[in-house]
Amino acid sequence: MVHFLTALLVATMSTSCFVVADVQLPIPSSPSSQNIVASNFFGISFELSFMNEYFGNDTDTIPQPMLNYLSEIRSRTGSNDVRIRIGGNSGDVSTYVPSQTSPMLILTDPNANSNNQPVNYGPMLWEVMQKVSEEVNGVQYLIGLTINTTNTDSVVAGDAAEILGGHLDAMLLGNEPDLYTAHGQRPSVSNYTVDDYIGEYSAALQDISNTTAGNLTNGHNVAGPTVCCSWDLATLLEQGYLSNFTNVLKYITLQHYPQNNCFGSYQYQLDYYTQHGNLVDLAAWQKPGIDIITSNTTADAPRMLMSEFNSASCGGISGISDTFAVGTLWSIDYALQLASIGYTAAYIHTREQGISYNLVTPPNLSEVNTGSWTTDPPFYALIVTAEILASSNGSIVADLNASTDANATIGAYAIYDATNSSLNRVAVFNYGTDSIEFRLPGGIKATNPKNALVKYLSASSIAEKYDIAWGEQTFVGAVNGKPVSANTSSGWVYTNQDLDCSDGCIVTVPGPSLSVVLLDSSSSSSSQKSSSDTSVVFDQQIFALGLGMTFIWMIAAL
Ligand SMILES: *[C@@H]1O[C@H](CO)[C@@H](O)[C@H](O)[C@H]1NC(C)=O
Ligand SMILES: *[C@@H]1O[C@H](CO)[C@@H](O)[C@H](O)[C@H]1NC(C)=O
Ligand SMILES: *[C@@H]1O[C@H](CO)[C@@H](O)[C@H](O)[C@H]1NC(C)=O
Ligand SMILES: *[C@@H]1O[C@H](CO)[C@@H](O)[C@H](O)[C@H]1NC(C)=O
Ligand SMILES: *[C@@H]1O[C@H](CO)[C@@H](O)[C@H](O)[C@H]1NC(C)=O
Ligand SMILES: *[C@@H]1O[C@H](CO)[C@@H](O)[C@H](O)[C@H]1NC(C)=O
Ligand SMILES: *[C@@H]1O[C@H](CO)[C@@H](O)[C@H](O)[C@H]1NC(C)=O
Ligand SMILES: *[C@@H]1O[C@H](CO)[C@@H](O)[C@H](O)[C@H]1NC(C)=O
Ligand SMILES: *[C@@H]1O[C@H](CO)[C@@H](O)[C@H](O)[C@H]1NC(C)=O
Ligand SMILES: *[C@@H]1O[C@H](CO)[C@@H](O)[C@H](O)[C@H]1NC(C)=O
Ligand SMILES: *[C@@H]1O[C@H](CO)[C@@H](O)[C@H](O)[C@H]1NC(C)=O
Ligand SMILES: *[C@@H]1O[C@H](CO)[C@@H](O)[C@H](O)[C@H]1NC(C)=O
Repeated sequence: MVHFLTALLVATMSTSCFVVADVQLPIPSSPSSQNIVASNFFGISFELSFMNEYFGNDTDTIPQPMLNYLSEIRSRTGSNDVRIRIGGNSGDVSTYVPSQTSPMLILTDPNANSNNQPVNYGPMLWEVMQKVSEEVNGVQYLIGLTINTTNTDSVVAGDAAEILGGHLDAMLLGNEPDLYTAHGQRPSVSNYTVDDYIGEYSAALQDISNTTAGNLTNGHNVAGPTVCCSWDLATLLEQGYLSNFTNVLKYITLQHYPQNNCFGSYQYQLDYYTQHGNLVDLAAWQKPGIDIITSNTTADAPRMLMSEFNSASCGGISGISDTFAVGTLWSIDYALQLASIGYTAAYIHTREQGISYNLVTPPNLSEVNTGSWTTDPPFYALIVTAEILASSNGSIVADLNASTDANATIGAYAIYDATNSSLNRVAVFNYGTDSIEFRLPGGIKATNPKNALVKYLSASSIAEKYDIAWGEQTFVGAVNGKPVSANTSSGWVYTNQDLDCSDGCIVTVPGPSLSVVLLDSSSSSSSQKSSSDTSVVFDQQIFALGLGMTFIWMIAAL
């Protein structure tokens, strides 16, 4: 019966847009989690070695397009700074040269492994970061320091603290110590253990307790252990790490990718990323350790933070990492998942030009001031997540478990106001190709359920790399990091909608897309709402969706 009617409906509409099912989304009146996240939850991790490709050589040569990109994020984070981390493998092996000015960093070993290229860098890096923060009205930094030769840490940390001031969020001491043995980074230690690490961590703390900027362990501004792969977090915490350092730690950091592309092959294809259940499992990596940290809700207890992630380590996978499905949708879905299980922030990694998971592609260095910048799929994830989580008092994120089938290509989250459990947003993912109707219940406690704004993040296909739009805007054809209007008659760009959810409502989620229902008036008035939102004149595609909704109501009434 349902299939017959669907076929009939499709046959009578000259459009590719048809509805395959409707999904009930039960929404609890309040979230079960206590984890409050801010609109700047989703940050950017930059590999130290290639900072110059994005930020220039010194304070006089910071490319304006990069500032524009960061301003796009900043304009959505309310009173919160944009989160940036600088470090990675190269942050662990590079040399700080206090006298080096311009350029702020220089590659020093052309024969180094491409995944770990050391540089010499100097205080100009911090000067540039401080200027970037001023220009975009607020960036807070995580910086990576080595625990190998700690004698320079006091100098680097002192300079960074003096120059960045309140914009220095925390110092990550050491990077992925569970790989030191495998990477040959401790040649004199045959099996580098947690005890060795705790010893080195202690020495590094000692070093930064006496700097030109004072005692930098004195204010909960260090982070660790930044393990990625083989150590068990819970064991490490219980082996003395937490009891030794809880009084100085601000964040407990992890770095984890679903798979690697380090050896020319990899395990998962694109469909892995389109199945929501896989990222639920991925986010639960180190769950016993995460539970130890999240169970301590004391104000100054360390918080969980994902200091680096992306779709595949060692540079990602071309044709997977650089797609709408993975770079854009999966990145948001995974970030919201991490928010729902207790993380405070997550940083998506970006490297040198040519890497498939990067956020944006700058012009070649010789043309950096005149060439065009290209926006890649993951950049959209940053601005959309900031809008989803926007709230003056913080948000609590709940996975609505839209499907019990772990292979389902849908996902949905409720985003509550942290102070009064008011439902601010509902975010619904559809990685498939057909539209799906999601039914929100009546009786929702929200600020503005009667005039909810619905915005769409969409692309022409899941494998698309450039034709991506959010809320009637796109970066396609924008060469300077500022979005332009998207062509809503293109067939894959959807106009913003107004939806009355006061007695329940149906949200049509075209495939593939993320549809975000904004149920609070403050965000609908502050977002780029088009004048056509309340118009009763729908274009053909939306008219078709309207028919689809009517159709579902009819079936429901039978
Ligand atoms: C930085 O210096 C290099 C080498 O001189 C140059 O190619 C590049 O364009 C400079 N970057 C900027 C942003 O000016
Ligand atoms: C620090 O790292 C370098 C290069 O990885 C290595 O040669 C050196 O022995 C390490 N130092 C210590 C104290 O382990
Ligand atoms: C390294 O040490 C750990 C902890 O003592 C032990 O569990 C592990 O088996 C050792 N690995 C090797 C390769 O010796
Ligand atoms: C701090 O460092 C300075 C300069 O290196 C040194 O003279 C001083 O003794 C150190 N203080 C402590 C308490 O280690
Ligand atoms: C630095 O501050 C920490 C934390 O308050 C304290 O334990 C340590 O003794 C201080 N170190 C120095 C050298 O002042
Ligand atoms: C600090 O860690 C070491 C293990 O490296 C452990 O032996 C020691 O008991 C810990 N100290 C405290 C105060 O927990
Ligand atoms: C919670 O964290 C605080 C601050 O670090 C610490 O003093 C306290 O001991 C921790 N509580 C537990 C139960 O571990
Ligand atoms: C950058 O340089 C590479 C190699 O020289 C070239 O293939 C590529 O087209 C250039 N990119 C741009 C945007 O000019
Ligand atoms: C909520 O945010 C407003 C505006 O930023 C602030 O004045 C108020 O104190 C906050 N309330 C709570 C409970 O945090
Ligand atoms: C979804 O499932 C998770 C894991 O079982 C659970 O913690 C969470 O409360 C569920 N969400 C809702 C809205 O029931
Ligand atoms: C789910 O997908 C995996 C591969 O991603 C496959 O092995 C498994 O059979 C699927 N399960 C079902 C119930 O379709
Ligand atoms: C919930 O609190 C927010 C501020 O945090 C406020 O803007 C909103 O109006 C409140 N909503 C309801 C339904 O009370």
